[in-house]
Amino acid sequence: MSEMDAILSVRDVAKLYGGRGGCKEVSFDLWPGEVLGIVGESGSGKTTLLDCLSGRRTPDAGRIMYRGRDGEMLDVHALSEPRRRLLMRTDWGIVHQNPRDGLRMGVSAGANIGERLMAVGARHYGQIRGSANDWLERVEIDENRIDDRPMTFSGGMQQRLQIARNLVNGPRLVFMDEPTGGLDVSVQARLLDLLRRLVREMHLACIIVTHDLGVARLLAHRLMVMKDGRVIEEGLTDQVLDDPHHPYTQLLVSSVLPA
Ligand SMILES: Nc1ncnc2c1ncn2[C@@H]1O[C@H](COP(=O)(O)OP(=O)(O)OP(=O)(O)O)[C@@H](O)[C@H]1O
Ligand SMILES: [Mg+2]
Repeated sequence: MSEMDAILSVRDVAKLYGGRGGCKEVSFDLWPGEVLGIVGESGSGKTTLLDCLSGRRTPDAGRIMYRGRDGEMLDVHALSEPRRRLLMRTDWGIVHQNPRDGLRMGVSAGANIGERLMAVGARHYGQIRGSANDWLERVEIDENRIDDRPMTFSGGMQQRLQIARNLVNGPRLVFMDEPTGGLDVSVQARLLDLLRRLVREMHLACIIVTHDLGVARLLAHRLMVMKDGRVIEEGLTDQVLDDPHHPYTQLLVSSVLPA
């Protein structure tokens, strides 16, 4: 594939905080349907980069181009704020580590899903409720819970609801920052299974930040390894994890480092 086919094309992105921290010189292309994992130790710049890519933080330098539904390339940070917000509602999903950051805890599960549909113009109550029901089922939440508020849900259920809220609009690109972060191992496994299935079914392009190499192995086709704000190694997931070239990746994989 050529650069022309990328859904996201990233060149020399940098975001420094007063000259230090952040991320720098990041370039890559993301293909439709591809899951890209970003791994690296705490403080390596993963979240900073993801926030720049998803338009929520303005980089100091570089360019992030998104290919819209009609094929045109859009410069994410050159768009007007309303256009960028529209893109976030229609084309993108953002799954936060903490469901509180991605859900409205005070309104019902059904409303959390329905709100996203209404944001793109859905008005028919019965259809909205029907979609909410379907999505609860898809993320394995009992539809009897549709009128309950997410604060009455377990952590795993909240995370599944957050996923439903993000996917109900049929996005093309989803950003996830440590989606399994705060969960028990067994709950994580179920969530990973679900994510893997949905990503495949919906042919989603996905960028997933994690410091859990097991999560990266399960979900990501390709990996970028970050250290001190830079990408120090990238390649197909199995290659990077089974045959790491950079000494830092070797340490990360041998779990000498506190990932
Ligand atoms: N708002 C900010 N102001 C100043 N420095 C920041 C800010 N946000 C992040 N940093 C610094 O930038 C670097 C990268 O932080 P970032 O949060 O992107 O790392 P991370 O890889 O996501 O870490 P973690 O795995 O702990 O979430 C760190 O040194 C951090 O201290
Ligand atoms: Mg982070």
